[in-house]
Amino acid sequence: MLNMFQEHRARFLARLAAENAAAIVPAGGLKIRNHDSEYRFRPRSDFYYLTGFREPDAVLVLVPACAEAQSILFVNEKDREAETWTGRRLGTAAAPAALGVQRALPLGELWTRLSEFLPGHTRMVHGFGEDPTFDQKLLAAVGTLQQKGRAARAAPRQWVEPALWLHELRLRKDEAELDCMRRAARVTAEAHRAVMAAARPGINEGELDGLLDYTFRRRGGTGSSYGNIVAGGAGACILHYRENDRPLVQGELCLVDAGCEWNYYASDVTRTFPVGGRFSREQRALYELVLRAQEAAILKVRPGATHDEVHDSALAVLVDGLLALGLLSGAREKALAEHAYRRFYMHRTGHWLGLDVHDCGLYTLDGAPRPFEPGMVTTVEPGLYVAPDDETVEARWRGIGIRIEDDVLVTPGGHEVLTREVPKSADEVEDLTRVERTRTAAART
Ligand code: GLY
Ligand code: MN
Ligand code: MN
Repeated sequence: MLNMFQEHRARFLARLAAENAAAIVPAGGLKIRNHDSEYRFRPRSDFYYLTGFREPDAVLVLVPACAEAQSILFVNEKDREAETWTGRRLGTAAAPAALGVQRALPLGELWTRLSEFLPGHTRMVHGFGEDPTFDQKLLAAVGTLQQKGRAARAAPRQWVEPALWLHELRLRKDEAELDCMRRAARVTAEAHRAVMAAARPGINEGELDGLLDYTFRRRGGTGSSYGNIVAGGAGACILHYRENDRPLVQGELCLVDAGCEWNYYASDVTRTFPVGGRFSREQRALYELVLRAQEAAILKVRPGATHDEVHDSALAVLVDGLLALGLLSGAREKALAEHAYRRFYMHRTGHWLGLDVHDCGLYTLDGAPRPFEPGMVTTVEPGLYVAPDDETVEARWRGIGIRIEDDVLVTPGGHEVLTREVPKSADEVEDLTRVERTRTAAART
């Protein structure tokens, strides 16, 4: 039986064959964090989608018009000394059986051997811009082939970006991919619960950040899908708050935006809870408003609907609520048309989700919003953010930041909320975060 990566490769190869195109897909390399320390390696998503291979530097070459082999993987060759220093390598001998590629060659031969495989394809898929050095070498190799114009077999003459064919495949998730995303969602639910249970006045955002990472890895995830956000108080009004280094304060809200990555498939979840376990009247009013907006938006997710419809339905609820609470004034239609709400809600309501947290896939087709199809996954994540220095509103609202985010699969009959196990109602969230006397006493000692 083919594994999911072989299936992906077979599907992409079929498309390439139909388009008379070759593709070159690099895994990417290690990146320096500081001086000579590197970040933990994570293969680029296009490469991983097509191979399931986790070593740095490898390059997949897909050449459907090539008689001997259509899938060729260039890898770091086995090397006893290098492996002692930097880690195990699969090597060329083991790669074909392990990964199902037809051929594996040493990475050092990539730029000399490429000219053997490319002729016969008139187009070439490559994502430019990630690694300019690689891009340059590729342009030079293909340029050399093009100059040999009288050769019997054509050199590629058109570049095609991955968005056109490969990302269309990635956008529609198959069952094996959904299995990864469901697992990611389940671990994410456990992590958010753990954070709610651990949160109390005085605990540092960093400790909760660490608890998220710990839970993700402990349960078998590859890590977090993106940098965890743990934002107490007005930090929640900074959409990409990353400091995560402040003690939580009794009575403020804490916004946690964090998702487990499973087998490099993302989840992306936000919950907001009161530190100490009790929403203030204003916090609860805004929390329930965001939740109503999110529920209305999720209900829109079904085949044929669009991101615009999801966004507009959240917006309608938010604007009505802001008017009712006195945070906006005037006519509803005017508030919508003039974007008066943008002071409190400045982002969109969702994005594609998959191997990347902001996953590939076009949002419009021929200039119109793209209709959802079964197998696509989107987030639904409305929020409200009242800046701490917003003098246009009463002081009691200032510094409240709330977002509620879930991951939603489009199914033939509507949708499935993949992250439904993460607690969400105001009462549930209060119950989970309530600090009992004993816990408070323990924290003091
Ligand atoms: N965590 C990134 C986002 O919500 O889009
Ligand atoms: Mn998101
Ligand atoms: Mn998020």
